[in-house]
Amino acid sequence: MTELGELYQEVVMAHGSRPRNFRRIEDAEKHSDGYNPFCGDMVSVFLKMDEGRITDAAFVGKGCAISKASASIMTEAVKGKTVEEAQEIFESFHKMVTRGPGGKYEVDGLGELEVLAGVAEFPTRVKCAVLAWHTLKAALKDEGGTVSTE
Ligand code: FES
Repeated sequence: MTELGELYQEVVMAHGSRPRNFRRIEDAEKHSDGYNPFCGDMVSVFLKMDEGRITDAAFVGKGCAISKASASIMTEAVKGKTVEEAQEIFESFHKMVTRGPGGKYEVDGLGELEVLAGVAEFPTRVKCAVLAWHTLKAALKDEGGTVSTE
């Protein structure tokens, strides 16, 4: 099977072509921009917050199907979560996609994010998968400027 054939599973394709929460939140309490220097793609993440909980999450930007799918599933995964819970999801997801070819990972708590597990087999695509996540992390920490996947 080709690299794309293995990666582009049905769910990834669905999210990549019709991403959820692909919109700007004008009155977002938290916002950050992310950049992948390898391809020049960018993403902006917006969060609505209420007493430490993420009540809405959205993104806009330009990127490949993997980056859009990852951002789409991410926004669904963190909605309703506290900042701490969202950071835990970030850590679990990051461990899963950066584990390296053939590496093991914990399934607990990943939910639909697990459809991106195959990205770990293709190190050149890992930055696509983590772009929105690093942007989310920067937004949660109220870091200004543009975060890079480097
Ligand atoms: Fe740019 Fe994937 S090729 S984010």
